[in-house]
Amino acid sequence: MANLGVRLTPRLRLEPIGPRHAADLLALYRDPAVAEWYGRWTWTEVERETARMARLWRSDGVHKWMAYDRVTGLCIGRGGLSRAVVDGQARLELGWVLHGRFWGRGYATEIGRAGLTYAADVLDTDEVVSFTETGNRRSRAVMERLGFRHARDFLLGGEGFSLYTCVGSGSARS
Ligand SMILES: CC(C)(COP(=O)(O)OP(=O)(O)OC[C@H]1O[C@@H](n2cnc3c(N)ncnc32)[C@H](O)[C@@H]1OP(=O)(O)O)[C@@H](O)C(=O)NCCC(=O)NCCS
Repeated sequence: MANLGVRLTPRLRLEPIGPRHAADLLALYRDPAVAEWYGRWTWTEVERETARMARLWRSDGVHKWMAYDRVTGLCIGRGGLSRAVVDGQARLELGWVLHGRFWGRGYATEIGRAGLTYAADVLDTDEVVSFTETGNRRSRAVMERLGFRHARDFLLGGEGFSLYTCVGSGSARS
């Protein structure tokens, strides 16, 4: 049962997030490099969030993965797809968050590629979006490496966000 829905990439083991990932998710969100973008999270909030993600895996057939190094077992980050309303429309959204010490090694791109493969092979769609704060240069670079194109900028809670779309297989599908 524990392996249900697990995906493997060249370097990572991707596990559908559920309650058993709460401690790893809290450690990730409390990494200072991540907290700069994700704000302060409490244990109660993360417990609620992992329970919500598990429910959405069951109802939507997809949500975020926790990513572990296949060799060392270290937690690298989290990412993948989820169904969400973005810029006023229901979409399939792709995202990534890595522990600061693992930035610059292509792990977010690897998670993103697994998400595009999952969308096409399991969810039977190539229509995936990704969005981030307009000033999040690193996240925008991941989108561009994966073959996403900048669609438009929009406001969310008074902040500027950039929306990218990937129709077709992108440039980085395996
Ligand atoms: C956004 C975030 C995930 C991007 O991480 P990242 O490490 O820059 O992205 P990748 O893992 O794809 O790595 C790309 C870098 O690794 C290099 N790299 C090394 N091996 C690579 C490989 N096999 N494939 C691709 N890139 C590789 C690339 O050249 C690039 O280097 P650069 O940063 O010097 O240009 C990270 O900055 C983060 O977690 N930020 C905080 C959370 C956040 O903002 N998330 C997005 C919210 S929408």
